[in-house]
Amino acid sequence: MTAVQPVDAEDVRVRQATRADLLDVFRIEESVFPQPWPYSAFERQLGTPGFLVAAEGDGPGGIAGYVVADEIPGHGRPLGHVKNLAVRPERRGEGVAKALLSRGLATLAGQGARSVKLEVREGNEAARGLYDAFGFEYLQTLPQYYADGEDAYVLVASLEDRDGF
Ligand SMILES: CC(C)(COP(=O)(O)OP(=O)(O)OC[C@H]1O[C@@H](n2cnc3c(N)ncnc32)[C@H](O)[C@@H]1OP(=O)(O)O)[C@@H](O)C(=O)NCCC(=O)NCCS
Repeated sequence: MTAVQPVDAEDVRVRQATRADLLDVFRIEESVFPQPWPYSAFERQLGTPGFLVAAEGDGPGGIAGYVVADEIPGHGRPLGHVKNLAVRPERRGEGVAKALLSRGLATLAGQGARSVKLEVREGNEAARGLYDAFGFEYLQTLPQYYADGEDAYVLVASLEDRDGF
């Protein structure tokens, strides 16, 4: 792995999530996804190095977005998994997701993951554009993966030989 250079969006600071962030994170989750994670699922992720938030301002401001990235242990090096990612609608298009994903992938690489996978809705053009920009490639389709019947694409990216994230 080469030098990690996290890219922060203009006025957000990407840092590890704390308990005080959970309600903000959960509110975004509920407003964005048709089948949101329950609050307890985020609570269980506290302490995971790849559970990151993009905090607005330096004080106790709000949260612009979050990412949950962890590792799937296996034989050999672990595989990274981006499990959740969302940005508040009012803060989209400003590079917030880019900042979160950069730091999330750098965290996974720092933990020893050699590659990373994720699932994305086939019709989610914004997310697919984002993952494309990060070098993710199509691996397989999971038919009717989501409760409303939409297929998921499994995408993978190598975390090696990168010039930062
Ligand atoms: C997907 C999502 C996280 C992107 O957040 P964002 O902060 O607006 O994204 P950024 O501003 O960091 O954009 C980064 C890149 O993503 C791509 N992108 C972002 N929005 C896009 C759109 N509407 N259409 C196509 N590509 C898009 C572009 O490549 C963009 O880079 P560029 O601005 O240099 O062209 C956001 O739209 C979101 O929260 N969507 C709902 C939740 C979701 O779908 N999560 C992902 C589940 S897999």
